[in-house]
Amino acid sequence: MLEIDFCGIEMKNPTMLAAGIMGSTAASLNWVARCGAGGVVTKSFALEANKGYKNPTTVEVDGGIINAIGLSNPGVETFKTELNQFSHDVPVVASVYGSTPQEFSQVASAIENKVDMIELNVSCPHAMSGCGAAIGQDPDLTYQVVSAVKKAVSVPVIAKLTPNVTDLVEIALSAQKGGSDGLTLINSLGPGMKIDLETARPILSNGFGGMSGPAIKPIALRCVYQIYDAVKVPIMGVGGIMDYRDVVEFLYAGASAVQIGTAIMYHGPEIFAQITQGLEKFMLEHDFQVLEEMIGLAHEL
Ligand SMILES: Cc1cc2nc3c(=O)[nH]c(=O)nc-3n(C[C@H](O)[C@H](O)[C@H](O)COP(=O)(O)O)c2cc1C
Repeated sequence: MLEIDFCGIEMKNPTMLAAGIMGSTAASLNWVARCGAGGVVTKSFALEANKGYKNPTTVEVDGGIINAIGLSNPGVETFKTELNQFSHDVPVVASVYGSTPQEFSQVASAIENKVDMIELNVSCPHAMSGCGAAIGQDPDLTYQVVSAVKKAVSVPVIAKLTPNVTDLVEIALSAQKGGSDGLTLINSLGPGMKIDLETARPILSNGFGGMSGPAIKPIALRCVYQIYDAVKVPIMGVGGIMDYRDVVEFLYAGASAVQIGTAIMYHGPEIFAQITQGLEKFMLEHDFQVLEEMIGLAHEL
């Protein structure tokens, strides 16, 4: 009942771990898979190791958290070793980044035989040195990155987009034109900030960071709804999902699958089983036989 095909990848249910949350080691990816996730996405990584920003890198605010990790990661070679120890039969997605189309395609080629799909992080709002949202805010750069990676690998490729743009449709169409097999919507929102009352200084070492959690859900949902009408490729919805009701909304808006991030920081990876059980019960109560009957329902007249 909960099975879904996303870009030709079979998922036993439509929930995935979002990039950057518990995705740095095989042990944590295995844990999330054991807890019932339909798929897992690694933390974003690049060709070389990157230390990221100094602590503090996350801070809680009303409605979610703000993070500026700065894409810290140990580099592709370490991720290859970690992924050798992934021991579950759910799909694994590598989230990769770089500062040029060539870097993106090099890291994607290096990892493609260890994963089922590649997610291109062109959307990090707090990346260092021209990576991240600097790419995903430019339609031409987005096109170049996606098309370079598509030429380099044979697994499905999905671009993860930033909501922090004037015209998301233009960026989504560029990604689709570059050959993106699907789209992930959205990366964290902002940047935003929080200031310490005693020191009068920004709390995050980077000053600004990306907002995630329940406060961004209405924006993520709008992005999915808007882009569903504009593109032909499937959409992975992400942003503020806390329970199965949120998943239902994302499906109705047009997502074929969803990712869950901040909710795990609040409730642990056990949330995957709670969400899938709630979703199944909802489908039974509302007479849905398969997920496809729900996808895009909010668009029907
Ligand atoms: C601590 C933290 C680290 C993150 N790291 C990444 C990352 O490495 N790559 C990426 O594409 N997104 C990253 N994200 C963004 C999430 O994958 C997701 O798009 C965003 O948090 C919205 O979903 P949520 O509200 O369910 O958390 C990160 C988010 C958080 C909170």
